[in-house]
Amino acid sequence: MTRHEAVFADAARLDRVADGGAALAVTSPPYPMIAMWDPLFAERGAGIEQAEGRCDEAFEGMHRGLDAVWREVYRALAPGGIACIVVGDATRTCDGVFRLFASHARVLAGCLAIGFQSLPGIIWRKTTNAPNKFMGSGMLPPGAYVTLEHEHVLVLRKGARRRFATAAERRLRAESAFFWEERNQWFSDVWFGLTGADQTLSAEDARSRSGAFPFELAYRLVNMFSVKGDTVLDPFAGTGTTMLAAMASERHSISYEIDAAFRPVVEASAAALPACANRRIRERLERHRAFVEARARMGRPCANRNEPHDVACVSGQERHLLLREVAGVERGDDGVFTVRYAPVRAPRAAEPER
Ligand SMILES: C[S@@+](CC[C@H](N)C(=O)[O-])C[C@H]1O[C@@H](n2cnc3c(N)ncnc32)[C@H](O)[C@@H]1O
Repeated sequence: MTRHEAVFADAARLDRVADGGAALAVTSPPYPMIAMWDPLFAERGAGIEQAEGRCDEAFEGMHRGLDAVWREVYRALAPGGIACIVVGDATRTCDGVFRLFASHARVLAGCLAIGFQSLPGIIWRKTTNAPNKFMGSGMLPPGAYVTLEHEHVLVLRKGARRRFATAAERRLRAESAFFWEERNQWFSDVWFGLTGADQTLSAEDARSRSGAFPFELAYRLVNMFSVKGDTVLDPFAGTGTTMLAAMASERHSISYEIDAAFRPVVEASAAALPACANRRIRERLERHRAFVEARARMGRPCANRNEPHDVACVSGQERHLLLREVAGVERGDDGVFTVRYAPVRAPRAAEPER
């Protein structure tokens, strides 16, 4: 059973999270200098109007507001805990001059100043259908601009690598392993082909207004950088995608969102989670079985065996990997969700002889 708390309050004070109470943060802030977030920054006294149109001042003011949250995230993380911050840069014309505002660089600098260590990050290459793909002077050099079709996933750590001291901790870690072929895909530094936010999880208009990231993005990060039973934090929760990924991955979660209008969206998404999560979980097993079969056909059978799912695997580290389905999501009177799990009901494909 896991526990998930969605708090509708300012993340500048994560008072529901004890010092070191979270193992992982997966989040995406409002992006400075992107027009859709101008009103939110303005409400907080750091809008472009307050800076009287001086863009550098506005950009810095917006980031100073975010720094307060990064400081809280640092406090809330346990030693060895990881923060994955998804952030996109912005382009804007200021005083008639078109320029880039590199938020990823500013967030990284702010987090390093707080004390985070930087780890290799990911470029998330988005699938966009932007009608005005070509910016600037069209076909004429040198005033045509590269299109911004990616976002950054900054990966930061609080201190040195986490240690797993007890047998129980090591067991949970072993159960949280990912398959060898998943590792090859998930740990590549460019991600593409992640489909948009799953429309079955919540109303599409709410998701596009919120700048939601895809479920798959959060699901991978949760599985890459935490183990079962950990608490995952999202200080800028929006529609609650990180919470859903934590629910699907047997982690606890705590989310902060300043705009209470997202409450019904989060509740509807949680209610719709089992079908979506279980599709993804069964798909993981099915894809793994297909991978094992393909390897055997190529004359390179897998040398190890995963015990819980009775399937071959490449490495000994996958032996105890255990996937479980979401059996149910309940919302308590206190607004806290609890999630129950059950064995996976994936159809067993025939496996070639070893
Ligand atoms: C880019 S969106 C996050 C979208 C989210 N990852 C999802 O998948 O739905 C940023 C969110 O942060 C919220 N927000 C902005 N400032 C905040 C603050 N100080 N505390 C908590 N939430 C805040 C905004 O209302 C917005 O919903």
